[in-house]
Amino acid sequence: MVRYPLQPFEESGEDMSEAYDRAWQASITDPQAFWGEAARALDWTSPPSATFTQDDGWFPGGTLNTAYNCLDRHVEAGWGDAIALVYDSPVTDTIRRYSYSELLAESGRVAAMLAALGVEKGDRVIIYMPMIPETVFAMLACARLGAIHSVVFGGFAPLELAKRIDDAAPKVLLTASCGIEGARTIAYKPMVDEALELAHHAVERVVLFQRERHRADVIEPRDIDWDVLRADTASDPVPAPVPVASADPLYILYTSGTTGTPKGVVRENGGHAVALAWSMRNIYGIGAGDTFWAASDVGWVVGHSYIVYAPLLVGATTVLFEGKPVGTPDPGTFWRVIVRHGVKTFFTAPTAIRAIRKEDPDATFLARIGTGKCEAIFLAGERADPDTIGWLEDKSGLPVIDHWWQTELGWPAIASCFALGDVRRKRGSAGLPVPGYAFAILDESGHPVPVGHSGAVVIKAPLAPGAFRTLWNNHAGYARNFATFDGYYETGDAGFIDEEGFVHIMGRTDDIINVAGHRLSTGQMEQIVAAVDGVAECAVIGADDAIKGMVPIAFVVPRAGFDGDATLAKRVIAAVRAELGAVAALKTAFVASGLPKTRSGKILRNLLRKIVNGEEWTVPPTIEDPAVPAALHSLVRQHESA
Ligand code: COA
Ligand code: AMP
Repeated sequence: MVRYPLQPFEESGEDMSEAYDRAWQASITDPQAFWGEAARALDWTSPPSATFTQDDGWFPGGTLNTAYNCLDRHVEAGWGDAIALVYDSPVTDTIRRYSYSELLAESGRVAAMLAALGVEKGDRVIIYMPMIPETVFAMLACARLGAIHSVVFGGFAPLELAKRIDDAAPKVLLTASCGIEGARTIAYKPMVDEALELAHHAVERVVLFQRERHRADVIEPRDIDWDVLRADTASDPVPAPVPVASADPLYILYTSGTTGTPKGVVRENGGHAVALAWSMRNIYGIGAGDTFWAASDVGWVVGHSYIVYAPLLVGATTVLFEGKPVGTPDPGTFWRVIVRHGVKTFFTAPTAIRAIRKEDPDATFLARIGTGKCEAIFLAGERADPDTIGWLEDKSGLPVIDHWWQTELGWPAIASCFALGDVRRKRGSAGLPVPGYAFAILDESGHPVPVGHSGAVVIKAPLAPGAFRTLWNNHAGYARNFATFDGYYETGDAGFIDEEGFVHIMGRTDDIINVAGHRLSTGQMEQIVAAVDGVAECAVIGADDAIKGMVPIAFVVPRAGFDGDATLAKRVIAAVRAELGAVAALKTAFVASGLPKTRSGKILRNLLRKIVNGEEWTVPPTIEDPAVPAALHSLVRQHESA
């Protein structure tokens, strides 16, 4: 075992933007040396024989265990009493703290439970659970066994869960009786039961964690009560961490692609751990003994990387928050958690800040509660509008740092590397390229556009450690991301780079939208809407929303005989909720007599977007029926004034 000591975060004291420039240059000119050095932050059971090779990816020959790196090694180094996890749940009025020793013991018990069910290295385990400590134990337990977890966000409907079950083919599914969404209790188990009926793959066992708030039915012999299994395996030894190859998958995380089938992003153990440990020190300024809080959900990549793995890899304290930015109980809840737990770096989505601002425009809660030891607030998940950043900087007095990344990458690729001391930021831009990432902006034929001009945002291949190197069961789908622009990864985002090198992300080049920081596909919603009885044609677009950034809106043209069907819009909304899930947040469907289309039949979605956003629009010369836009315009305005 090669072992390196835990380190608190210390500022280097050198001229800071130079430190960033030097790190970025070093990462691009000599990635082998740069990431080889970064890999020393981990304990490898056998050290890598190389840093990167084209065929074998990052850290070939290296073996390690991610859970060991998150837990055991810190305990072995005498750090066992330090707090690893704080569970703060205003919705259940609970605060619970787990030291590193306790988190190791708890996740070890779950590893023993899974081992008793026959889960071994390489087996898949689906985790459909709310924001409770058991979810973190379960993820770390899988990592300990070398099993591959796939966490499915609770807001997805049974059909979406079923798609993931069929693709990942898990041996075991872990769930809880309910999630708590603000004031509401959402029963998870009926959704799991329905998903298992819909899925073709037969899951061997379902382990059910019963929460006090709501108890679910146990369907024997398939289901096992979590506590019963825990008691039955109480005397089993905690399984030793299983060394896995650097390129072995740690998890699969499904994300929206442009089709109805979710893409299973595969995260490798080695590159992931190296990149996350590096990012904690150099982007977020977090080391052993610091408290970091990412107010996201473990169902998203932010939750995987920055609630669970990254803070633990560096011996920090992570906060698991079960609540909403508002209403649990009030818009002061974020500030209270930050102060209560001494959060040093805070990470959330702009939508959460907009929600707080709407309820507390003068930031009276923030003024009263303060921000304690917090040094910086990072935002990601969707474009951070300058107004929201300005409001938050003004009210908190803290630097508010927008940064950009994707599920595919696993960690930020554009940021102000705050902890490298680079405080250069520009409102409206997501920041500068993070070391490891070289960006370009290309036109449709793959040529670089002049500085300041918009185009496709691409990243030079190969991607940095931690970024995906395949999609589960779909390597061809992965390869398509590199097919359009030779030598580059196509991010799917559009934007520009300005004369100072700041990258500005302006939107997507495909049909992905971001709703309250959640990534969704309008194409997938269209597939659902098109199948609703009575729908002849449809389009789903992302409309601007003051809180959620974007919300989906459906336009449907009824089939003959359904013209006067007053239920059509409601059925469309219900279908998207039932098939995709509540998280889709499709609440408006317009029933129209026609859609704006070109003579070749292409729906003019941009025109629809302008109409719903109340922007100026003109009738394009290629339109099939010039009367349609005006008709839609009055339909939308009528709806607004109703
Ligand atoms: N389990 C079950 N249902 C869920 C869920 C979960 N884990 N998460 C969300 N839902 C449901 C919600 O209850 C809501 O249902 P409703 O239509 O019946 O009200 C629906 O899905 C939409 O949820 P959401 O988009 O979260 O809207 P909201 O109105 O409940 O809250 C915000 C709005 C802005 C407060 C909230 O989205 C938020 O805090 N966002 C932060 C963004 C974030 O964490 N992004 C992750 C990437 S960083
Ligand atoms: P996800 O995979 O869910 O993390 O979503 C990734 C997508 O969210 C990106 O491709 C962007 O379109 C969007 N996104 C994430 N962060 C930002 C940001 N800081 N600014 C603009 N868009 C962002």
